[in-house]
Amino acid sequence: MGETSNKSANIAFKDENGSSQVIRLDIKTGTMGPTVLDVSKLYNDYGYFTFDPGFTSTSSCESKITYIDGEQGILLHRGYSISDLATQSDYLDVCYLLLNGELPNQKQKEGFNNQIVHHTMLHEQLLNFYRGFRRDAHPMAIMVGVVGALSSFYHDSLDIQDPKQRELASIRLIAKMPTIAAMAYKYAIGQPFMYPRNKYGFAENFLHMMFAVPSEEYPMNPILARAMDRILILHADHEQNASTSTVRLAGSSGANPFACIAAGIASLWGPAHGGANEAVLNMLKQIGNKNNIPEYIKRAKDKNDSFRLMGFGHRVYKNYDPRASVMRQTCFEVLESLGYKSDPLLELAMELEKIALEDNYFIEKKLYPNVDFYSGIIFRAMGIPTSMFTVLFAVARTVGWVAHWNEMIQDPTQKIGRPRQLYTGEKPRDYVPMAKRK
Ligand code: SDX
Repeated sequence: MGETSNKSANIAFKDENGSSQVIRLDIKTGTMGPTVLDVSKLYNDYGYFTFDPGFTSTSSCESKITYIDGEQGILLHRGYSISDLATQSDYLDVCYLLLNGELPNQKQKEGFNNQIVHHTMLHEQLLNFYRGFRRDAHPMAIMVGVVGALSSFYHDSLDIQDPKQRELASIRLIAKMPTIAAMAYKYAIGQPFMYPRNKYGFAENFLHMMFAVPSEEYPMNPILARAMDRILILHADHEQNASTSTVRLAGSSGANPFACIAAGIASLWGPAHGGANEAVLNMLKQIGNKNNIPEYIKRAKDKNDSFRLMGFGHRVYKNYDPRASVMRQTCFEVLESLGYKSDPLLELAMELEKIALEDNYFIEKKLYPNVDFYSGIIFRAMGIPTSMFTVLFAVARTVGWVAHWNEMIQDPTQKIGRPRQLYTGEKPRDYVPMAKRK
């Protein structure tokens, strides 16, 4: 548990009646990052709530999985930097690390890989779920539906108090997400589903299920497979973001793991969160060419205009998102490997980034490109349709959601999440029968 230092914060103030009050709060320190004031007993001891819409200054839990320093642009998974992991590990390495706290040795890696490989297929009846959707359904709608439905097929991994069943559910979710995602794509384009192949690695299998057809061998491009694996790593986990917090909150009620991950997928879908990669591509297409950039920068700064520069800004990073740096580099590698001499959208994105980073508004508000700014350009170059971008984010983030779900369940202090509120509604009033209503 976080160290409760023997120090405490004594907050002296005049309350709403003008009386002097002193509130004493325990101070907790972590391994790194801001010290916290423990307000868990504030209401019980002093009758006050805290107020923090959007949780900008609130830690919802204690965690050992991921650390972010937004000012420095640092992202660590179990202490390892994202750039080391993205350039030296593969996605299943990182999955093992996030779930177990250590990088796997060779034997552990082989065992984990074997577990994942043998859970990539879906119960055959699940394929019927796809036919209930319109062909033009957004694939995220299919992800929410099919992942939630997994709980009706895998009854031997629903008991969250059984560590073995939790592990099996975790493996099933990580292993099956690429299959479910690829099938959503195949369904949208009217091609037959491709089954997973055990001879492939995680990213290769996903590309195969997305782009292969039964009538011929799929020419695996090792550079694209490596790029896909790196992109999965870059999206694997990110502390207590909106979708991870959704999974934790759903899990705190004792909901089954498949329902919790379906809730996470739903939250990720929003354009302010995981839906931003799709929104960036649509924004770049809307901007069209470099001459229009000043107009859109102006709109992004206009309080009365709902337009925001998608792929820019972050609740935590007030510096360059370290994932965006790796993603930018990967962009060039993928485009070059695919023989692109240039990509008009990449050039537009780079010009937009350059202009924005020199603009006082973005400098003062510390708005930098985030993980979503470049990812869509790579996905598009790989032949992935825009509607599938957030689906890929969900495939990658499943391990993070599952790692936090497991950590939450094993936390001895865990209880159902139930925030309070500042009530500003009506005071008690007498009922008005219909006859007397105006
Ligand atoms: C992800 O949390 C995570 O870790 C998420 C994520 C993960 O891995 O899980 O990193 C993934 O979701 C990345 C973010 C993707 N979203 C986008 O790119 C959408 C565009 N960005 C914005 O919507 C916004 O920056 C957020 C939602 C990302 C962050 O919003 P905050 O922290 O609530 O900040 P804010 O909205 O209060 O903005 C602070 C100021 C505001 O101006 P003022 O009201 O102070 O005058 O900055 C402005 C905002 O208007 N601002 C922007 C802007 N982002 C913030 N202005 C123009 N364009 C933008 N993109």
